[in-house]
Amino acid sequence: MTFYVGVDYYPEHWYSEQWETYADQMKAASFNVVRLAEFAWVLMEPEEGRFDFDWLDSAISILDKRGISVILGTPTAAMPAWIKHKYPETLASSDGVKRDSWGVRKNNCFTSGAYRLLSERITRAMAEHFTGHPAVIGWQTDNEIDWPVCRCNTCVREFHVFLRDKYGSIDGLNRAWGTHFWGHKFSDWDEIQAAVHYKEDNPSLCLDWHRFQTHLQVRFQGDQVKIIRSVCPRHFITHNFMGLVNTSNCYELAKDLDFASLDSYPDFPVSAEPKMPYRTAAHCDLTRGLKGKNFWIMETTAGPTGWSEFGRNPRPGEMRKTFYQHMAHGADSQLFFRWRTCTSGREQYWHGLLGHDGKPGRRYMEAAQIAQEAQILAPLLEGTTLRPQVAIIYDYDSRWATEIQPSVAGNNATEAMQRYYNALLRVGVNVDVIPSNRSFSAYRVVLAPQLHVLSDETAERIESFICDGGVFLADIRTGVKTESNLCHERTLPGLLSRSLGIEIGEYEAIPDEYEITGLEGRFERYKAKGYADWVSPTTARVMVQYLAWHLQKFACVTRNNYGLGFGYYVGTIAQEEAFYNALIADILNSAGIQPLSPPPGVEVSLREGDHHSLLFLINHTEETIAVSIAPGLNEVTTRTTTGTEITLERFGIAIIKIPKNVPFHPRQAEPVDRLLKQTASVAA
Ligand code: GLA
Ligand code: ZN
Repeated sequence: MTFYVGVDYYPEHWYSEQWETYADQMKAASFNVVRLAEFAWVLMEPEEGRFDFDWLDSAISILDKRGISVILGTPTAAMPAWIKHKYPETLASSDGVKRDSWGVRKNNCFTSGAYRLLSERITRAMAEHFTGHPAVIGWQTDNEIDWPVCRCNTCVREFHVFLRDKYGSIDGLNRAWGTHFWGHKFSDWDEIQAAVHYKEDNPSLCLDWHRFQTHLQVRFQGDQVKIIRSVCPRHFITHNFMGLVNTSNCYELAKDLDFASLDSYPDFPVSAEPKMPYRTAAHCDLTRGLKGKNFWIMETTAGPTGWSEFGRNPRPGEMRKTFYQHMAHGADSQLFFRWRTCTSGREQYWHGLLGHDGKPGRRYMEAAQIAQEAQILAPLLEGTTLRPQVAIIYDYDSRWATEIQPSVAGNNATEAMQRYYNALLRVGVNVDVIPSNRSFSAYRVVLAPQLHVLSDETAERIESFICDGGVFLADIRTGVKTESNLCHERTLPGLLSRSLGIEIGEYEAIPDEYEITGLEGRFERYKAKGYADWVSPTTARVMVQYLAWHLQKFACVTRNNYGLGFGYYVGTIAQEEAFYNALIADILNSAGIQPLSPPPGVEVSLREGDHHSLLFLINHTEETIAVSIAPGLNEVTTRTTTGTEITLERFGIAIIKIPKNVPFHPRQAEPVDRLLKQTASVAA
């Protein structure tokens, strides 16, 4: 495989006399790819229907001469001024009354016929012009498709069409949305408005409005994909997602693509305590989960980032270890954002590999080192990916329903997911992030934090998963809502009551000082936060209990043995990480998974292949950390054989190759030192 490493490059920001120098510098850095043109619409179509690709041809041919491949972005995220001037209706209208200002970018209405036609036309012109160009390998659709939300008349009319397709009749919609409340019954589609206040409008309308936004974006992207597929059959098509930051349903947007890409900007806060970048890992795992396969990093930090105020500079080695963290989670190519820091415009302080002065300095040198290392690793990475035994369901319907009604103040579906996710990463267990409708059969453990919207079909699949030997976890607000965002009429957790062995008669918001305490070995005393389910076990065992007098006869955490598996329920949010550590330890134990348990500050991740696996060790700290390890294994970045200990310098990484003839299997994974000692002695 070719591992592409390169930059997001804007030749149009510089004099053409500089292009040769830049391409030479890229080549000297061993870069083999750039992404181009995703904001250059006005340069490619200076006036309607007149196309000019000459400048881009010259930029590409300069790159091509140096063997640098090109990904082209369709430029529709940045509308030329002539479009809004000629077709004012192409601008989104957030309030449905007046058009938004053109000022920034991402300001188009997705239902505007003019905009859709113009988008198709520039896409086709680009595709036809570049289809035969040997340097072009693929396409990025638009840029970070996620907004704006437009409420113009056309969008509202399209919303009516969307609803009619979905519900068939206005009575069907009235039933689905429960419009008997407040006398909101509709007698005609035209009476239905856009959702405006997510915290005040009918929750059913709000949920469908969210789905409608994704529908429009999928359709908009689909228009472009259809053209590129037919005109450029040899090119791949991807899109740069933002991981958990996206508000639209990314599984849907990814369906049309060959693979997903991620724009990954880890937090480099100036003052905050250094913490493990599990958020970055989660963005990666979600991106891999979008299509269930490896992905690209289309943009990543190359310097201090910010529009008006910037964060800190990546320390020496920090970009490199971030690069390996992405790779450890399945990134198969990566581009730094951006080449040279722009001297004009809103992103003057979003620094590139080169500063404003254009001198290739420290950050450029580090990127060059990374690119060279990636070329050496490419053959080893070929055919490897993560094959976790644990999955977390990340469900957009539930996320939106939780945004519309958090239930208790501050409750957030993404943070809920991250609490369990982080605890798994702390003990070195890889995780797949999946939608609720994907098969669970590859997993021994499935966690479904705050599966607020639960269809009967998903509930039945969960029940069979547990019955057949799976370990499953649900927590607060699970199954509260139907797919149309009505409250289920069943006693909670509804169809999961049997497999979880509990009933939840009541629940409430609680102050943050309520305590909970473990009744079983692993659990200690913790503070609950914000919410309490009053859980009555039917067949489940109580693992953690509330201490408040009125909650003492109810359970807080339960485990139920159902069929061959276990169903866990967590009825609150705990404040301490230690609670989640104890819970995950119990769950892994129930599933027979022995975690690798890296030392604090070190992240481990395993890419498995048919011929060998690669164990990544990443030191996220600025301290040197020694990891005990078996001798005689191959560390592939230094091409050395391991001794009894591997020393990870600050931000240091190691990649251990585990040959397939060694009986290593993550299903029998042992703590990393024992595992590696064992594999080594077997190898010897
Ligand atoms: C995003 C965009 C880029 C750039 C960076 C920095 O990731 O895709 O075009 O704007 O942010 O702001
Ligand atoms: Zn609109």
